[in-house]
Amino acid sequence: MKIALFYGSTTGNTEDIAEIVQATLGSDTVDLFDVAEESLTEAAAYDFVILGIPTWDYGEIQSEWEDVWDDVDEIDFNGKAVALYGLGDQVGYGEWFLDAMGLLHDKVLARGGRMIGYWPTEGYQFEASKALTKDGKQFVGLALDEDCQNELTDQRVKQWLEQITAEFKGA
Ligand SMILES: Cc1cc2nc3c(=O)[nH]c(=O)nc-3n(C[C@H](O)[C@H](O)[C@H](O)COP(=O)(O)O)c2cc1C
Repeated sequence: MKIALFYGSTTGNTEDIAEIVQATLGSDTVDLFDVAEESLTEAAAYDFVILGIPTWDYGEIQSEWEDVWDDVDEIDFNGKAVALYGLGDQVGYGEWFLDAMGLLHDKVLARGGRMIGYWPTEGYQFEASKALTKDGKQFVGLALDEDCQNELTDQRVKQWLEQITAEFKGA
């Protein structure tokens, strides 16, 4: 299995998670692409894609993701399984928690992606989020909060990687 992981990161947290994912699943399995430097069209060669995106500035998309935002609409995600992880701050920005992950999810879904890696909302406290499923019971990807819950990150990532590895295989 080959996985392409695209991320954008302003202060390095989303990048750190990308490196943990690569170290956990193996550098022969996961290829990393910083959207600041590499084109999303690289995704064409992969059946499995992970996208990492933090939310900035009251529900906005992180700036390097913003630069390639329209390019997402040019990618054909049909036949690809896509998992998202988002970084946010549920205390400082609880009205916009992980909004960018939700916005990215909807774009990829509209382009035919098989979305996987949904994640329970238990254990988080926030006011509102655009990153919830329609029934409000799950996040549309792994929810990480390095500002307020960084002690939970390693375990969350480990558990989510087990989940998406099974889901990538169609289990
Ligand atoms: C000025 C500023 C605005 C932010 N706005 C949001 C926000 O609207 N929603 C959210 O969930 N997190 C918000 N955050 C938290 C970041 O998403 C969080 O710190 C994240 O880990 C940054 O990831 P990065 O280091 O990969 O850029 C904000 C942080 C800062 C400093």
